[in-house]
Amino acid sequence: MDRNSIVGVMRELVGESNVLDSAADIAPYLIDWRKRHIGVAACVVFPRSTAHVSKLLAYCNEHDIKVFPQGGNTSVCGGSVPDASGDSIVLNMARMNRIVEINAGNNSITVEAGCVLANLQAAAIEVDRIFPLTLGAEGSCQIGGNLSTNAGGTNVLRFGNTRDLVLGLEVVLADGRVWNGLRTLRKNNSGYDLKNLFVGAEGTLGIITSAALKLFPRPHATATAMLGVDDVEAAVAEGLKLQAAFPGELVGLELISKSEFDISLRHSEHARNPFSTVPEWIVLVELAASTGSDESLAERLTDALQPSFASGVIQDAVIAASEQQRAALWQIRHHVTEANGREGMGLTHDIAVPTYRIPDFVHRAEQVLARHYPEATQVIVGHMGDGNLHYIAMFSHEYWAQVHDKRRVQLELSHLLYDIASEMGGTFSAEHGIGALHVPEMSVYKNAVEIELMQQMKALLDPNNIMNPGRVLPAN
Ligand code: FAD
Ligand code: LAC
Ligand code: ZN
Repeated sequence: MDRNSIVGVMRELVGESNVLDSAADIAPYLIDWRKRHIGVAACVVFPRSTAHVSKLLAYCNEHDIKVFPQGGNTSVCGGSVPDASGDSIVLNMARMNRIVEINAGNNSITVEAGCVLANLQAAAIEVDRIFPLTLGAEGSCQIGGNLSTNAGGTNVLRFGNTRDLVLGLEVVLADGRVWNGLRTLRKNNSGYDLKNLFVGAEGTLGIITSAALKLFPRPHATATAMLGVDDVEAAVAEGLKLQAAFPGELVGLELISKSEFDISLRHSEHARNPFSTVPEWIVLVELAASTGSDESLAERLTDALQPSFASGVIQDAVIAASEQQRAALWQIRHHVTEANGREGMGLTHDIAVPTYRIPDFVHRAEQVLARHYPEATQVIVGHMGDGNLHYIAMFSHEYWAQVHDKRRVQLELSHLLYDIASEMGGTFSAEHGIGALHVPEMSVYKNAVEIELMQQMKALLDPNNIMNPGRVLPAN
C-alpha cells in the first residue's frame, strides 16, 4: 500500500486529529533520544482507546502494514523508532495516558500504557503509596515502554524489575484481538502466565494498552549517601556489607567511576561536587525505612559505615542532610546519560554479572579496552546491587568522526566485552533490551533452543511479522 493510502485509512480509523504525516511533524518520532537511529514512516498514529488500537492492528495485519510501537522514545538500543523501509506506521501511545483506578487498600493502580512514569509515581504519592520504578528518563518514558523493555533503574535491588511490579495487563494482539488480563490479584495460578510474555517483548508480540500495577507503602524515613573508595573491590565489599546490615531497607546501591562522575559534573549546570576531591569510585547508597526519622536512619547508616571509615577503606563520605541534598546527589547519578552524550561518543555495554564478579569484570574489560582501543576512556556507571554495569567506552567526538567503519568497531568491542561477561555467567543485555542494536548478539549469546522457542512464539502471535519487525529476534 502506498504512503498516501496508508495515511488516509489511518485517519478514517482513528480520526483526522490523531494522525500526523507532514515531514516536520513526524520528524521527532523518527529519531531516537540519543540521535543514533533514524527511520522512515508514512505517519504517526496516536490511538485514544483500546478500540482504536484494535482497529488499527486488525487493518495493518490484513494489509501487511508494519507497525512500530512507541512510548516515550527513550530507548537506548534503537527499539523505538521505525526502520528505513518507509510504508509503515509509528503507533505512539502518548494519548492513552489516563490513570484508570487507584486503590490504596489493595495497593494497586491501573493505568493506560501511555501514562508517563513520573505521573504514575505522583499519583501513588497522592494516596500515600509509592510506585517504586525509578530511572533517569522517568519524566518522559511511559509505563507501556517500561513494561515492554522490562526496565530496571535504581530501585531494583529492593523492588525488582518492572516485571515484578505487574499484576495484570490488557494487550491488543497483532490481529486486533483484545486480551483483557487486567486483574489486580496477588495470586492466580490458572494456566500459563501470559502477561510475562508481553513484558520485555519490546512491542514484537502486541501492544500493551493498560496495566494493573503494585503499589507499596510510602517509607517514613530515607537516608542517602555517597561513599568514596579507592578501588572497585572496596566498592563491592562495602555494598555487600550494607546489604547484610540493612535487610529490606537497602533500596539502591549504585556504582560510579571517577571518569563518569567528572563527566556528569562537567556537563550539568546545577551539579556541585560533594567531595573535596572526587574519589576513584563512588558508591551511592539509599535506605528507606518504615519507622523512625530521616535523622535516626542517617545515624544508623553512619554507625554501619564507621569501621570502614576508621580503617581508611572509605576515604570520604557525604550523607544527605535534607531532601534538597538528597536530590542533588541523585541528580549527579541520573544525569549521566545526558552528560555522556555531550562528552563524546560513548559505546555503552549494558552487562550484568554476579555482583561479586564485578571487580574481575572491570579489570579484564579495562585490559581489553587499553589493548584494542587505547583512544577510549573507561567510563562506568551501574546498578551495583544488581550486578548490572553500564560499561562505556568513551571516544572523543573528533576521534569518532574519523573512524571509517563505525559499526565494525562497535561490534568488535562489544563482542570482546560480552565474551568476558558471558564467561562469568553474565549477560550482554541486563536492562535496556535488544531493540535493533543488539540483534546480532542474540544469535551469539542465546542458545539455539531459546531463539527457536522465541521465533515460534513470535510466529504464533504475529504470523505476518507486522509488530516491530527486525527488532529483538534474528530473522529465521
Ligand atoms: P520507548 O523507548 O518508546 O520504547 C521502548 C520499546 O518498547 C520499543 O521496542 C517500543 O516499540 C516498545 N513499546 C513502547 N510502548 C509500548 C506499548 N505500549 N506496547 C508495546 N510495545 C511498546 N532503562 C533502564 O532499564 N534503566 C535505567 O536506569 C534507564 N535509565 C535511562 C536514563 C535515560 C536518561 C534514558 C534516555 C534512558 C534510560 N533507560 C533506562 C532506557 C529507557 O528509558 C527505558 O528502556 C524505558 O523503559 C523506555 O520507555 P519508553 O516509554 O521511552 O519506551
Ligand atoms: C542508567 C541508564 C543508562 O542507569 O540505564 O543511567
Ligand atoms: Zn541503568
